[in-house]
Amino acid sequence: MLDRIRAIATKLSPRLIEIRRHLHSQPELSGQEYQTAAYVAGVLSSLGYKPQELVGKTGVVADLPGQNPDQGALAIRTDMDALPIRELSDLPFASQKRGVMHACGHDVHTTVGLGTAMIMAELDLPLPGPLRFIFQPAEETAQGARWMVADGVMAGVAAILGVHVYPSIPGGNIGIRYGALTAAADDLEIMIVGESGHGARPHEAIDAIWIAAQVITTLQQAISRTHNPLHPVVLTIGQIQGGRAPNVIADQVKLTGTVRSLHPDTHAELPAWIERIVAGVCQPYGAKYEINYRPGVPSVQNDPNLTQLTALCAEEILGQDQVQIILEPSLGAEDFSVYLDHAPGSMFRLGVGFVDQPNPPLHHPKFQVNEAAILPGIMTLAYAACRYWHEA
Ligand code: NI
Repeated sequence: MLDRIRAIATKLSPRLIEIRRHLHSQPELSGQEYQTAAYVAGVLSSLGYKPQELVGKTGVVADLPGQNPDQGALAIRTDMDALPIRELSDLPFASQKRGVMHACGHDVHTTVGLGTAMIMAELDLPLPGPLRFIFQPAEETAQGARWMVADGVMAGVAAILGVHVYPSIPGGNIGIRYGALTAAADDLEIMIVGESGHGARPHEAIDAIWIAAQVITTLQQAISRTHNPLHPVVLTIGQIQGGRAPNVIADQVKLTGTVRSLHPDTHAELPAWIERIVAGVCQPYGAKYEINYRPGVPSVQNDPNLTQLTALCAEEILGQDQVQIILEPSLGAEDFSVYLDHAPGSMFRLGVGFVDQPNPPLHHPKFQVNEAAILPGIMTLAYAACRYWHEA
């Protein structure tokens, strides 16, 4: 099996590089991936798949049928959107769309999804359950996964795998993370409402600025005393607005910020916890408050069994020295987590770093990928798909 996967992947390599460069040169913004989706559907159709287009607005889904309709599907999710960044690389296949760039490697993800679909079509194995390829739009705006789920792509899915490129891992190496991979990222808005008055007569007013200052200080202090320090939370108030004149006591202050957490239990507690702290500060002084807590995407929690399956497959196909365990999670966000509310899953990191040249970070106008990563990513996913039903 391994040898067949390697042989097919090696044969497909020039075609895959061509696909990746085409996608790179034609980036499209989140929710506008019309050409990309049509291209993906075209490739899938040429392989014998029957892709569904316009799923989740501009997404594409295709199944390789399984033998037993009662078996749950394994889904492989890749994303297709680019960023509003003007590419500053001098690559011959640089973006032809001014101000739009594949600076997060989603061109590689799409290529990896298509390459895996090519290998699985050519292997033509009797799979116990269906293998579903999900090509998602609008990951960068954290909308696409919800759109896809709302259109039913997780119906019948028992497990899902995902991949994201990573420039600080050498090209072609795989990074495996057990547990939390990325953080939950929520938006927070707190309005403190006091009562205006003369700056010289504070006892006749309710000073919203003084109370807001205490709210911020108390939130930061209370985080360290009331949350398990092994379940990190970062609460950043990035904006504060209030007051009209130096000698007038402010009646309203608006605080806005972002809240990041890794542990699902901590995440669930945060809205009520914030409200308790704010209420406790406001109440003795007669101030009122309004809190608008908007959940963003949850934390990506990698399932232990699926993570182990990916690790074993990567080690067997690439060798142990090309597979590294990632020790720390990221406080970045990734909407792959939205699928994990419906089935267990695991996302691995695909190294796209260069050994002999500097690696600009993701979302940088000079971001580049080491194309040596494409085959290892595809072979790992294809092999994991071959083994999934036999080890589940
Ligand atoms: Ni990305």
